Amino acid sequence: MTLFPDMIKQGLGSSIIGKAQEKNLIEIDTINIRDYAYNKHKQVDDYPYGGGAGMVMQPEPIYEAYKAVTSKLSNKPRVIYLTPQGKTFNQEMAMELSKEEELIFLCGHYEGIDERVIDMIVTDEVSIGDYILTGGELAVMVMVDAISRLIPDVLSNGVSATTESFDDNLLEYPQYTRPAVFMDKKVPDILLSGHHKNIDQWRREQSLIRTYNKRPDLLEKAELSEKDKKILDKYCKS
Ligand code: 6GU
Repeated sequence: MTLFPDMIKQGLGSSIIGKAQEKNLIEIDTINIRDYAYNKHKQVDDYPYGGGAGMVMQPEPIYEAYKAVTSKLSNKPRVIYLTPQGKTFNQEMAMELSKEEELIFLCGHYEGIDERVIDMIVTDEVSIGDYILTGGELAVMVMVDAISRLIPDVLSNGVSATTESFDDNLLEYPQYTRPAVFMDKKVPDILLSGHHKNIDQWRREQSLIRTYNKRPDLLEKAELSEKDKKILDKYCKS
């Protein structure tokens, strides 16, 4: 539910998420809140009671849009309001939300939304980070992308959703492709060796070392084997 449905359609219409929609693995409906404006000027915002800068989105069009969406559904989906006041979105939340059959996202604009309709329909408030956007649209695109790629078959390569950064709180190991030598820089020999066990071990080491160097905060949450700890002791000063 947004005042800028074209932004969402454009943003999520191409690449992997676009393909996932074509294949009916996911369905993204954009609801234009303005279609539910109740006055003849199609106005959806008004001045804030008590004064102050900017405009506030009125409750009626949002409530009418919500009713129109949910009247077609048998279950009441979670309604996620995108706001910098929400809980910060992360991979764990993406995984949790990817298990839901249906989700409603509510994008605010202007100075915000009348609190009464938020109280009435919103189940979750989510932020994508500690900075302020002009509206929730970019945030919802971020969320839908992160959630959708976890849905079975959205990524054609079945393993890549699970071996990437954050799943086990470790960063991904470095990747290389041809040419084997680029401006005098060689691809690590081990990757050309064909020795899969050694390659797996090298990649694990690289993940650990990288996480230590770039995101030591993640390492505290990672599940480390005795072997992992030895590697960290060996390559990284603690
Ligand atoms: Cl979800 N909305 C807005 N307007 N700004 C944000 C945000 C959301 N997350 C971070 N900044």
